[in-house]
Amino acid sequence: MRIAVVNTKGGVGKTTIATHLAALFAAQAATLLIDADPQASAASWAAWRRGAGREPSPTTTCLLGKAVFDEGKNLSKGFGHTVIDAGGRDSASLRAALLLAERAVVPVGASNLDAAAMTDLLEIVELAKDFNAGLDVHVLLMRIDPRTRDTGEMIDYLHEHKLRLLEARICERVAYRRAIGEGATVAELAKDPQAIAEMAALFKEIQA
Ligand SMILES: Nc1ncnc2c1ncn2[C@@H]1O[C@H](COP(=O)(O)OP(=O)(O)O)[C@@H](O)[C@H]1O
Ligand SMILES: [Mg+2]
Repeated sequence: MRIAVVNTKGGVGKTTIATHLAALFAAQAATLLIDADPQASAASWAAWRRGAGREPSPTTTCLLGKAVFDEGKNLSKGFGHTVIDAGGRDSASLRAALLLAERAVVPVGASNLDAAAMTDLLEIVELAKDFNAGLDVHVLLMRIDPRTRDTGEMIDYLHEHKLRLLEARICERVAYRRAIGEGATVAELAKDPQAIAEMAALFKEIQA
């Protein structure tokens, strides 16, 4: 499966989700992680992961612009799964990622501001579908406050725009921050059972 983790907004958790999915897929089959963000955070995670000797690892490569599609398509043929971490703004890389992917996961926060910030992404997704009709787009509620889980406004917005929402949700938890910095997954750090459970639920749902 080729799956792109996208949003035009930064800090929503794209890299957190992309690295987790890549590590989880890597346990099943050879997996390619394409870092399509010039900030290269997924590549940093991969380097930390190699440094820490964690296995299995996805093969990680940085591609930008049109190369995300051209080179990414070519490279992905050699892998069972491909995960693309697409940068936090409207860019050629993001558009190319949406052409290459069969499935897109859009992490979003739950606030009104997050909803307002989705408008430009929706336009890009609609454009991508003109060329990639099978693109399957799912929204992931991310960085939810575990005390309130107040997601009503965002859910209304997603309904209004006929966007498919994943059942799995990812809360704001220190474990995710730590995992990135250690080139790990929350399951590998084995510190936060709730984080482990919600990430496992997301992985299961994404493969369904
Ligand atoms: N669910 C979460 N809980 C706590 N911190 C998170 C969570 N998701 C992301 N973060 C932290 O927020 C920052 C931005 O996340 P990141 O995945 O890099 O977002 P993006 O790739 O969309 O810019 C990072 O420091 C990351 O560790
Ligand atoms: Mg990122």
